[in-house]
Amino acid sequence: MNYFFITGTSKGIGRALAAELLTMQYNKVFGISRSLVLHHDHYVHFHLDLADTKAVSQFRFPDLTEPKGIYLINNSGSLGEVRHSGELDNEKIISTYNLNIISPAILINKFIEKFKKTDCNKVILNISSGAAKRPIDGWSTYGSSKAALDLLSQTVQAECELDQNGFRIFSVAPGVVDTAMQDQIRSSSIKDFSSVQNFINFKEEGELQHPEVVARKIVYFMENCHKYNQVILSLNNAS
Ligand SMILES: NC(=O)c1ccc[n+]([C@@H]2O[C@H](COP(=O)([O-])OP(=O)(O)OC[C@H]3O[C@@H](n4cnc5c(N)ncnc54)[C@H](OP(=O)(O)O)[C@@H]3O)[C@@H](O)[C@H]2O)c1
Repeated sequence: MNYFFITGTSKGIGRALAAELLTMQYNKVFGISRSLVLHHDHYVHFHLDLADTKAVSQFRFPDLTEPKGIYLINNSGSLGEVRHSGELDNEKIISTYNLNIISPAILINKFIEKFKKTDCNKVILNISSGAAKRPIDGWSTYGSSKAALDLLSQTVQAECELDQNGFRIFSVAPGVVDTAMQDQIRSSSIKDFSSVQNFINFKEEGELQHPEVVARKIVYFMENCHKYNQVILSLNNAS
């Protein structure tokens, strides 16, 4: 059996990915988020608010029976508040970093601790963003949290090589995907986010990818990830 721990399975990319994996009977999916949407014999949901770092610290990965592969997919994420610095709500800065980088770091730490002696395919896939690679006004918390996720991934990969514990870690940007996150981007004001019109155009010109298409690319990537040496990838170049 392949076991997948996926954060954010209630909508968007995470939901489509869980649904795609559940079409294969040798997969079992553990979803982690605040709301349960999927129902399937091979699906188990953990209710967890990943902005609540105390709750995440108490999370325990379950014992697994005869795993062939174990995967942690840190997919949950939020843009947070789209505004320029000086106008941001401090509590929202904290909760966005908690969700986008602190909780993934804790889950990675716990995942490696739990499964380091388990002999099977072990993969950690962090869902990053093109916003990690360049400054975008209005997205300071989001972009910097994803940049931190990229460097966290590279550092953990280097540690796993030194420790020879068999984990592979990737930080993958999915491209522009038609989800609630894009709805939030398009509803921004030009004062808070100067490039908002570009994202309105992406939608109007049909340039957004469907989550189901992205989910299939992620599954293909996980099936072939042994072919990739780099940690930071764009899904569009990897498939
Ligand atoms: N859409 C894009 O164009 C795009 C582009 C680049 C990168 N990404 C990245 O792709 C990932 C998925 O994005 P998406 O577009 O699919 O977003 P989405 O449709 O808004 O879904 C976000 C998911 O994250 C979960 N989530 C949000 N807050 C949470 C919390 N406090 N605790 C636990 N889970 C939480 C939600 O679950 P609950 O509400 O049930 O908790 C939901 O399932 C994110 O990391 C995002 O940064 C997206």
